[in-house]
Amino acid sequence: MAAAEDQTVMDTIPFNRPCVADREIEYVTQAIRSGRTCGDGPFSKQCQSLLESRFGARKALLTTSCTSALEMAALLCGLEAGDEVIMPSYTFVSTANAVVLRGARPVFVDIRPDTLNLDERLIEAAITPRTKAIWPVHYAGVACEMDEINAIARRHNLRVVEDAAQGVNASYKGQWLGTLGDLGCYSFHETKNFSSGEGGALVINTEEFEKRAEVLREKGTNRSQFLRGQVDKYSWVDVGSSYVPSDILAAGLLAQLQVMDAITLKRRAVFQSYMRALASLQDAGRVRLPIVPDHCQTNFHMFYVLTADIDERTALIQHLKSAGIVATFHYVPLHASAFGARFGGKRGDLPITESVSDRLIRLPMFADLTESHINRICEAITGFYG
Ligand SMILES: Cc1ncc(COP(=O)(O)O)c(C=O)c1O
Repeated sequence: MAAAEDQTVMDTIPFNRPCVADREIEYVTQAIRSGRTCGDGPFSKQCQSLLESRFGARKALLTTSCTSALEMAALLCGLEAGDEVIMPSYTFVSTANAVVLRGARPVFVDIRPDTLNLDERLIEAAITPRTKAIWPVHYAGVACEMDEINAIARRHNLRVVEDAAQGVNASYKGQWLGTLGDLGCYSFHETKNFSSGEGGALVINTEEFEKRAEVLREKGTNRSQFLRGQVDKYSWVDVGSSYVPSDILAAGLLAQLQVMDAITLKRRAVFQSYMRALASLQDAGRVRLPIVPDHCQTNFHMFYVLTADIDERTALIQHLKSAGIVATFHYVPLHASAFGARFGGKRGDLPITESVSDRLIRLPMFADLTESHINRICEAITGFYG
């Protein structure tokens, strides 16, 4: 029997499916037809002003990825060989790579057991005369304790760079993530809430970084000033690289940013359905669900469960796979990775990070995930725990 006729054949529920905003194809077509597809065109400018006005950011510059934005942040912080930067080990490699590319050393600090974010109570003990900056990562779109982190940074004269790859349109005590540190880095990768396939933005909250950020992003030239008519020719004035995305990508991104609230509401509905359906398993002590403190507004980027141990996690992922559901683990701690060992890290150093990394499963999470799929996923999980 053909699969399409066989009602018993289950469709696979993917882990992620990027949404397509109503005007996305129209805008992309417009960008291509305009004949002006390089960066900083009309769609890029609209994205940047939308980010600036919506989030109250001093300046937002689109980049080719959050990785690029982090690399720019490392340059703007003036990181050099021997400098140290405090960050979680439970993060994506780009957070650490940006620092290492400048010859500086990531100093990995453990995470909080509730939000899984950098534990601000452990930061001061990790500060040395070489510490230059603190790079918190807002995991799953839930804010780090930024008041405490910024206070520590002020006391020790350190820069704060927020890795808000997952934190676009989430807030902390009413202030948008990415606007709380000296610099903020956003991702618009396919897996993020708002996406252009690959993409990012650097949010600049400190006046002194504004001019240099433009230059670094334009291959070390003052081309941006030239385009504004502020200089009569442009030339090489600093180091830099190619961090400007095409206006075709910005066109697709603009369509998504314009409906940011609608996308967030859909993700909220998915998140809340998961929370309702899995509450009894949490009450019975079988799994732990995400914790969002009252002063943090999440963007519902991720839905995860924490199992008892790694064996249970492996078995649950396999069980879900056999039910046609794609669920995945997340970061392998950087301090215990092959490359992380170069910075003196080893398994056993950061107990919460290691335990969370072993036990966390991310469930399918995207704006168009249907109620019937959520029910199927939750029934499979409940069935697993019998
Ligand atoms: C915390 C964090 N930082 C940085 C990145 C890199 O983002 P991009 O793929 O836009 O470079 C990611 C990607 O998933 C991430 O989760």
